[in-house]
Amino acid sequence: MKKTALVTGASSGIGEATAEALARDGWDVFVAARRIDRLTDLANRIGGTAIELDVTDAEAVANMAQQFDRLDLLVNNAGGAKGLDSIADANVDDWRWMYETNVLGTLNVTRALLDKLLAAEGTIINIGSIAAFTPYKGGAGYNAAKFGVRAMTTVLRQEMEGKPLRITEIDPGRVKTDFSLIRFKGDEDKANAVYADKLNLTAADIAESIRWVASLPAHMNIENMTIKPRDQL
Ligand SMILES: NC(=O)c1ccc[n+]([C@@H]2O[C@H](COP(=O)([O-])OP(=O)(O)OC[C@H]3O[C@@H](n4cnc5c(N)ncnc54)[C@H](OP(=O)(O)O)[C@@H]3O)[C@@H](O)[C@H]2O)c1
Repeated sequence: MKKTALVTGASSGIGEATAEALARDGWDVFVAARRIDRLTDLANRIGGTAIELDVTDAEAVANMAQQFDRLDLLVNNAGGAKGLDSIADANVDDWRWMYETNVLGTLNVTRALLDKLLAAEGTIINIGSIAAFTPYKGGAGYNAAKFGVRAMTTVLRQEMEGKPLRITEIDPGRVKTDFSLIRFKGDEDKANAVYADKLNLTAADIAESIRWVASLPAHMNIENMTIKPRDQL
């Protein structure tokens, strides 16, 4: 029987590349995000299933979870950053978006599917960030959200002690995706400057790590993996 995976935030970047890598590895992949057109193209390419979903909508997430008879792998990838303002100039709407998407989104999807993942002796992979370890000026809202994801990963592992569930957090450094375009609200010059004249990871680099973690024998749990381009301190 094919194993089943759900990847959130699969309409671009790391999530899209992860869905492709898992499908190549023989997984039956469900891809979820808000931009259904992009998901439908992806699902057609990989022989998967597209699900239009806003992870911050707990009721929609609970309804979505009903369609799974079993789930072997959940990749909580939906997330991102908004703004790079100092605390003095903090945009509260941006902070709220970051908390709701990264933290509450991960909570909603995890809770809705936990029983099915346990029944399948499955795996959860949360996508954190090096921002969860290293705060930086202008990053406090995103830092707080990814610190929150890291706390959740650790606490869930404690609460699931002795139960058949693996819980991993992968913490990428600089990956060239739409991440900065979203952070800078469509300002391409600012977004491109983040990656210019630097070594950057690709979404496929992170996807390969996710695929590998998920492919390990069920008794092995990679707790955390931090992945950066060689020139990033
Ligand atoms: N790129 C980096 O340098 C980097 C580094 C460390 C960590 N990360 C993390 O990696 C993850 C993926 O980011 P990325 O770099 O691949 O950026 P991206 O290309 O902007 O992807 C973000 C994904 O999240 C989805 N998303 C956002 N809000 C959502 C919501 N409410 N409900 C469902 N899906 C939602 C987006 O889809 P829709 O807009 O279609 O909903 C999109 O598919 C994020 O958690 C990010 O924080 C990125």
